[in-house]
Amino acid sequence: MNMATLSSRLDAFDRLNLMGAATPLQRLPRLSDHVGRDVYVKRDDFTPIAMGGNKLRKLEYLAADAIRNKADVLVTAGAVQSNHVRQTAALAAQLGLDCVALLQNPLGTACDDYLQSGNRLLLDLVGTQVVNVDELDNADQQLDDVAQRLREEGRRPYVIPIGGSNALGSLGYVRAGLELEQQITAAGLDFSAVVLASGSAGTHAGLALALAHALPSLPVIGVTVSRTESAQRPKVQELVQSLGTLLDIDTPPDMPIELWDEYYAPRYGEPNRGGQDAVRLLAQTEGLLLDPVYTGKAMAGLLDGIARGRLAGDGPVLFLHTGGAPALFAYRNACRMD
Ligand SMILES: Cc1ncc(COP(=O)(O)O)c(C=O)c1O
Repeated sequence: MNMATLSSRLDAFDRLNLMGAATPLQRLPRLSDHVGRDVYVKRDDFTPIAMGGNKLRKLEYLAADAIRNKADVLVTAGAVQSNHVRQTAALAAQLGLDCVALLQNPLGTACDDYLQSGNRLLLDLVGTQVVNVDELDNADQQLDDVAQRLREEGRRPYVIPIGGSNALGSLGYVRAGLELEQQITAAGLDFSAVVLASGSAGTHAGLALALAHALPSLPVIGVTVSRTESAQRPKVQELVQSLGTLLDIDTPPDMPIELWDEYYAPRYGEPNRGGQDAVRLLAQTEGLLLDPVYTGKAMAGLLDGIARGRLAGDGPVLFLHTGGAPALFAYRNACRMD
């Protein structure tokens, strides 16, 4: 399938234009010198919503659907320090909607910074109605239950799944993949790989699908932040399939899904040494802020991949910066969670 067809299939979906321009593609000169290989970054931490991040791209499609359905309240869920919930809640405020958020404390921590600062502070600021839950073990059902209660109160809820990662939301990263292809082609760059954090998987699935069509020789490597490779693979695959169905396109049968799962331990949301070192290195070489939960761990994978020759060839490597820096304040002193 050519790019024009994929692009016109995407254009058939309603989208709120919240992103405006393409996010910057930048070379990181001091980091590149430090690691002996060119490293570039795509600045999706820099999207125009309350401290930025990857979720705004998904929300362009999800919020358009909410508005079409005449919703008056967005309902979503995540960890106390969820960047997804922060961006959703801020967008609700921007659109004049309410937001109800189910929040889970995945580490069971009593640390004040974690419970009150960072993303959580911003939720209060934008007027989110927070419901604390012990577990999000059956999140889709829990979200539907909240929506049902709101309907009984006469409200018109619109449910956004964890991470905004259903097929509709993931269209945002198909679109991002096409945007990236244009930037790469215009700059005449030949990347060895794109590296990103793979969590609820919509970012990974959308980008991988678009690039499988647009730049098929460019590997997309998802560094897992919460699961083993074997647990994450079906999540990415299912989203790729449902994106293919939604867009009515063939997914390339041999489309590789590359996952590295060596960098998230001990568990989701708990900082580790490699991630913390990567956060500090990027801050000190480039003044670039990563986070301890997603992008720090993904960058640790990229740096280790370079150091161990895990990335093919010797071309430049691209890091997709998906945001998350507000969590730095919640993880002050890399707050040990136990
Ligand atoms: C900063 C950041 N990076 C990456 C991700 C992962 O994106 P996805 O959930 O689409 O896999 C998230 C998800 O919440 C995030 O907040």
